Amino acid sequence: LAPVLTIDGPSGSGKGTVSRLVAERLGWHMLDSGALYRAVGYAASMADIDLTDADAVTRCALAAKIRFRPSEDGSDTRVVVNGHDATDEIRTETCGAAASAVAAIPAVREALRDKQLAFRKRPGLVADGRDMGTVIFPDAPFKVFLTASAAERAKRRYKQLKEKGLSVTISGLQREIEARDERDASRPVAPLKPAEGALLVDSTGMPIDAVVAKVIALVQP
Ligand code: CDP
Repeated sequence: LAPVLTIDGPSGSGKGTVSRLVAERLGWHMLDSGALYRAVGYAASMADIDLTDADAVTRCALAAKIRFRPSEDGSDTRVVVNGHDATDEIRTETCGAAASAVAAIPAVREALRDKQLAFRKRPGLVADGRDMGTVIFPDAPFKVFLTASAAERAKRRYKQLKEKGLSVTISGLQREIEARDERDASRPVAPLKPAEGALLVDSTGMPIDAVVAKVIALVQP
């Protein structure tokens, strides 16, 4: 079985950026599991499905065709949902909230399980999410739990969304992120928590390169 490095943590902890850079440096595959939940939230919203209707959302998750494919110039990965390039739409906080709602449905998590396991290929996989080390890849040899203060996480997310030209405020974002974290941490299925044996990294005030170096050192001491 190919080795897996799991990177779990709350929103805006830097997981996405760190996972991508570490995967590039190691030459490993990359799984953005949050994008799968966001894609299901998006597909359900597009189909006007009530997000509290567990059966309808589960049917939507099972039927959804979610593909990751490199952009034409190879600079990023596009997320295609039922034939539509939804890369930018799924990054909004509206879609984050929809993702968090559908992610609380156990049958949806079950429906996405095999899709996630299929990413485990040689030479290795960097898996970014909330339950990568606890539920999906509990046998992973390398596990990281990445955090940062709520204020710092809101600031980072603000910068990201601003760059995409979306109009948001830091205080509004911080409120939304805190509400989503609270929901993710308190739900009965796959609550956000560090996996056993995970390296805890608090990235508050830490430059991204330093975080990447710390994670690489875990895999290649
Ligand atoms: O980028 P950010 O951390 O804000 O969010 P994300 O990783 O794209 O995940 C969006 C939502 O999907 C989270 O708030 C979780 O509710 C859910 N999620 C999950 O339950 N399990 C995962 N492995 C990944 C995401």
